[in-house]
Amino acid sequence: MTNPSRDKEKAFEEILKMDPEEVQTNPDHAGTHAGVSGHESGINFNILPEELEEYLNQYVVGQESTVEVIATKVCTHFNRMKIENQIPEDERIIGNIKSNMLLIGPTGVGKTYIIKHIAKKIGVPFVKADATKFSETGYVGGDVEDLIRELVHEADGDISRAEYGIIYIDEIDKIAASGNMSGPDVSRTGVQRNLLKLMEESDVDLKTPHDLASQVEAAMEAQKTGKVTRKKINTKNILFIVSGAFSGLTDIINKRLNKQSIGFEKEKISGEKTQELLKLMRTEDLITYGFESEFIGRLPVYVILNELDVDGLFKILKNRYSTVILGKKMDFKAYNIDLDFTDDALMELAQRAHEEKTGARGLLSVFEKVLIKFEKKLPSTNIDKLLIDMDVLKNPEKSLESLILKDALETFQKDFLIEHGIYLTFDEAASQRIGELSREKSKKIHVLCDELFHDYFHGIRLMNLENFTITEEAVNTPSEFMDKYIKQNYHKE
Ligand SMILES: Nc1ncnc2c1ncn2[C@@H]1O[C@H](COP(=O)(O)OP(=O)(O)OP(=O)(O)O)[C@@H](O)[C@H]1O
Ligand SMILES: [Mg+2]
Repeated sequence: MTNPSRDKEKAFEEILKMDPEEVQTNPDHAGTHAGVSGHESGINFNILPEELEEYLNQYVVGQESTVEVIATKVCTHFNRMKIENQIPEDERIIGNIKSNMLLIGPTGVGKTYIIKHIAKKIGVPFVKADATKFSETGYVGGDVEDLIRELVHEADGDISRAEYGIIYIDEIDKIAASGNMSGPDVSRTGVQRNLLKLMEESDVDLKTPHDLASQVEAAMEAQKTGKVTRKKINTKNILFIVSGAFSGLTDIINKRLNKQSIGFEKEKISGEKTQELLKLMRTEDLITYGFESEFIGRLPVYVILNELDVDGLFKILKNRYSTVILGKKMDFKAYNIDLDFTDDALMELAQRAHEEKTGARGLLSVFEKVLIKFEKKLPSTNIDKLLIDMDVLKNPEKSLESLILKDALETFQKDFLIEHGIYLTFDEAASQRIGELSREKSKKIHVLCDELFHDYFHGIRLMNLENFTITEEAVNTPSEFMDKYIKQNYHKE
């Protein structure tokens, strides 16, 4: 069965891969795609906003309005490029602003997750970077252009494809000037200026004298197309998405809103209030925050992401694509253990994660904390199933111990049966006592059982028994218990 949307993705990738000149000269490619016209590489982008939205909502939880805006603007961006490529160059709109986006939201609420899914779905080259990388290099200029060159790398050296890529820059709030215009602020403003040039339209040199990698890219491209390579990459059609947590932005919004009220005291801003305030954000707040107005001007679309509440975190865990659950299941599957969770346990874990205040990232750390001991110990047992329920969460050490005890006794029982043809059972008190002894003496269960009951089969055989129950007394004084047992029962036979 063919998947129509996958076919579309492939066709789009193919067309983006083509070099404009290649379209004319390469008989393999010429005319095979409807969207390709004479001189320009066409784009066969057919995804509609609702389709992309639906796709994203399969994965992303609790960010419906964000997903709606991003899906729409991304689709419009690529669909428009398709149309614009069909319009003769001299009839195109001049100075057009594209839909570059600014995402504002705290850590771990899905910013990167959404963008990665978009890039995967639409199959364009995608580069992600942290803005801090630029401010920390200490010199202004040059290096933001590396992003564009990286995009060429992501496009396997294919410049035409790279020119339709997505660049995602996280921690953009870190290149805001903080007010005192000296030291790092100057360089931050410089980074903003360099970025804004790229965000609009500029030509970036593919080769930099100091960058060996880009030289290699150029050579690859030459080899592929058999032509002298283009040396510049135009950024006109590259979509820029930037994001950050923007801590302190709510204070600025609050202050602006309260400007008139004299004697205003800074109120404590709660989580809910944060969301409300952010929704009232205006461009001027971002300028106060430390951005150049020209920079903000190149980001016409703002999106505010929601914080994830306990219910949202629970839904992420219940989502069938949940990377946290799937990831943990894989970790255990590596040792042939099936890991599962009850719903109330997942809710409890969501609650714990919420207290970490790191969004969905908190889920990961909470899961690791609960599971790490199980992940260490269970691989050396025969246990092949682990169900995390409320009992386990309330008392993880004890649960782990009793799991291991049960498994070790079963193994001993099985070995004993195979070796001697005798079926041993341990009553409740006996297995508890074995657990205690193993802890006290720091001995593994099976070592301890071997020591305690190594000669039991003689006695049991003597009495011609096929089953034998081990009691607490047998654990405490194994030899005495067997002697007594034989004395009491032998002559009855
Ligand atoms: N809304 C969400 N729905 C489903 N999963 C999510 C969501 N938000 C986060 N996750 C999960 O948490 C992980 C981390 O989220 P992500 O990388 O998107 O955080 P972020 O918002 O970019 O945070 P940061 O500001 O720290 O970069 C994701 O890989 C995903 O598994
Ligand atoms: Mg991120």
